[in-house]
Amino acid sequence: MSTPAPIKRIVAVGAGRMGRGIALAYALRGQAVTLLDFKPRQAADSERLEAEIRQELRATLEQLAELGMFAAEQIDGYLACIGVAPLRDAAHVLGQADLIYEGVPETLAAKTDALGRIGELAQPDALIASTTSTMLASDLAPMLSHPERFLNAHWLNPAFLIPLVEISAHPGTSEQTLNRLQSNLESIGKVPVVCGCHPGFIVPRLQTLIMNEAARMVDEGVASAADIDKATRYGLGFRFASIGVLEFIDYGGNDILYHAGQYLSQNLDPERYAVPDIITRYMESGRNGLRSGQGFHEYPADQQQAYRRDTLPRRHRNEKNRCVAVCPDELSRSEPGSGSPHPAGRLDHPGRGS
Ligand SMILES: NC(=O)c1ccc[n+]([C@@H]2O[C@H](COP(=O)([O-])OP(=O)(O)OC[C@H]3O[C@@H](n4cnc5c(N)ncnc54)[C@H](O)[C@@H]3O)[C@@H](O)[C@H]2O)c1
Repeated sequence: MSTPAPIKRIVAVGAGRMGRGIALAYALRGQAVTLLDFKPRQAADSERLEAEIRQELRATLEQLAELGMFAAEQIDGYLACIGVAPLRDAAHVLGQADLIYEGVPETLAAKTDALGRIGELAQPDALIASTTSTMLASDLAPMLSHPERFLNAHWLNPAFLIPLVEISAHPGTSEQTLNRLQSNLESIGKVPVVCGCHPGFIVPRLQTLIMNEAARMVDEGVASAADIDKATRYGLGFRFASIGVLEFIDYGGNDILYHAGQYLSQNLDPERYAVPDIITRYMESGRNGLRSGQGFHEYPADQQQAYRRDTLPRRHRNEKNRCVAVCPDELSRSEPGSGSPHPAGRLDHPGRGS
């Protein structure tokens, strides 16, 4: 296959939450991007939609400027990077695109229609990524021509703020397609990860378990919703903002997780808390993480001390960057007109003082 042209023209198809977020993510890095509405509308409705989109994007940018992410004078420049086009311009816009994100509603009918038309109108070497949250890339790929240039790119909302993008290819996706998307995302400061063609990517699969368990705890009267939310924000979330989940297993030791799993499976639910085979295998082979030099990651003996020393600054940086915000019940307790009880939304960047 010939070397594809560099990615210059980016199109987000579907002018909803995800399309707008992706457009903003590129614009914030000075990259021109077109938001292509894919729903048939009368000309007047398209004009109204564009005005509404521009108003919303401006309001978001103003809020980000207030938070100190950039100077308010930059807002017009960011907005100028985003073009908004109606469906009647689809052939022209898609025909010129190097990278296309499909972000139409999460229904099979909408995806089939949109991907089919995108496949027809785009150049054969244009990179096409679906932002689907639940459909497998292998199920969507047959909907387009040249499926080797197709994969899933799961952004987390708000797409312009959250660094992670989960990329999931299907067996026919070319390596070039995967590499091109990864490099493009890195070029705008995103953190792409690659996961297999399995349901739930990485984050939804993990967070669904956590969310289900939190809901169960409310039902069982274990703790109040407010306290569970505090526990996730100031404990669980705080911890995992600076250390990966598997890295954390290694840090404590696989044996700790093994014993915790045994205890909880005996006392709460044998299936939900069953110890995974891999943890038992690691336990039995003495692969206990940092302590034994090997777990899910490798810890060479000459690097262990430096690694241990680094974990504290990582958490400290996390504390410094913490966005102080309020829980919904705290908001309702604050006096009307008095603002929030905390400096809500104040984002302290490293180097700006806190
Ligand atoms: N919103 C999120 O938090 C989020 C997170 C991750 C992934 N996603 C995925 O992103 C994709 C888009 O979701 P969203 O939240 O932006 O949806 P949305 O409802 O906000 O936007 C969808 C857009 O498509 C338009 N539309 C409606 N019917 C259409 C049709 N038949 N054909 C073409 N366009 C149509 C709507 O007018 C709207 O502009 C979905 O696949 C969703 O699973 C969303």
